[in-house]
Amino acid sequence: MNKIQAAITAVGGYVPETKLTNFDLEKMVDTSDEWIRSRTGIVERRILKEPGKATSHMGATAVQAMLERENIDPEDIDLIVVGTVTGDYIFPATANLIADKVGAKNAWGFDVSAACSGFLFALKTGASFIESGQHKKVIVCGVDKMSAITDYTDRNTCIIFGDGAGCVLLEANEEGFGIQDSILRVDGSGREFLYQKAGGSLHPPTAETIANKEHYVYQEGKTVFKFAVTKMADVSYEIMQKNGLTSDSVDWLAPHQANLRIIDATANRMGIDKDKVLVNIQKYGNTTSGTIPLCLWDFEKKFKKGDNLILSTFGGGFTWGSIYIKWAYDPS
Ligand code: UT7
Repeated sequence: MNKIQAAITAVGGYVPETKLTNFDLEKMVDTSDEWIRSRTGIVERRILKEPGKATSHMGATAVQAMLERENIDPEDIDLIVVGTVTGDYIFPATANLIADKVGAKNAWGFDVSAACSGFLFALKTGASFIESGQHKKVIVCGVDKMSAITDYTDRNTCIIFGDGAGCVLLEANEEGFGIQDSILRVDGSGREFLYQKAGGSLHPPTAETIANKEHYVYQEGKTVFKFAVTKMADVSYEIMQKNGLTSDSVDWLAPHQANLRIIDATANRMGIDKDKVLVNIQKYGNTTSGTIPLCLWDFEKKFKKGDNLILSTFGGGFTWGSIYIKWAYDPS
């Protein structure tokens, strides 16, 4: 019997309609379109404005559209794994809410908290259930409503983040396509440079934590930038080396979209041409767990069966890693 591998067999995505442009931000904080473009590559981002709608709404919309497009009965889904740090609630998990909204009545699910690495950590987790033969259809979703934890008076962070969701369907493949390898890492000593200070069990919400703005994302940008450039570039190179891939044999890099300069540094380290690098940061900003599946969604039509994709990320915590995929289908 051939080895069972987990292959992506469909992708989906959703971004809210409302755009927040660099010019809008110029009116909110002391910044400029020129500064944001040149330091990050971001031009605009999407914000989920509608009252009563949050992370599960974006995730469910992406998943539902994918299932409808592929004509898949939601009741056939076995498991939903969601990478997010902005779940609708502390509990229950956003996976539960998405399952309910899309009618995945026979599924179980849970959330994975790994900040900007949420999608890759969730993908590896979901893939294991396919590879072990326990499940036939697994949905992995990366989604964040960063606007819910962004301080729009802090120019260090509010220019970066946006809202969005992406998802993939995983199914078994016995012909050598799908997820080939992964290298995933954490270093908790990096927690103080990028995190949400209050709201957890260490510092539960109080009038003081709210007054101190401790429920917003806090980032020491320069320090995180240094770690991100090194770790994301190194791990992308490492997974190439480990799998005998060369700059020619890598077809696509789907990087976390945090900063165009980090993406460029990663591509340089891998020695790959710019036209192999998937970039949509200009449209969506940093959607945390959403960036990589949104890239797969935006650029799906470019991928051919057998293409070698490297997915790479770096995020708060710290968390980082790469996944190597042999794409399983041609564009329809
Ligand atoms: O997604 C998870 C991981 N996160 C990341 O990978 C993000 C990593 N960090 C970054 O992408 C960058 O550090 C930022 C985009 C956040 C900041 O860019 P930077 O080139 O590192 O800028 P900086 O923080 O070193 O600031 C340079 C200058 C400072 O002024 P002085 O001290 O030189 O006078 C800042 O006060 O730019 C100033 N500045 C701004 N100016 C205009 C900081 N933010 C802004 C702003 N507009 N929005």
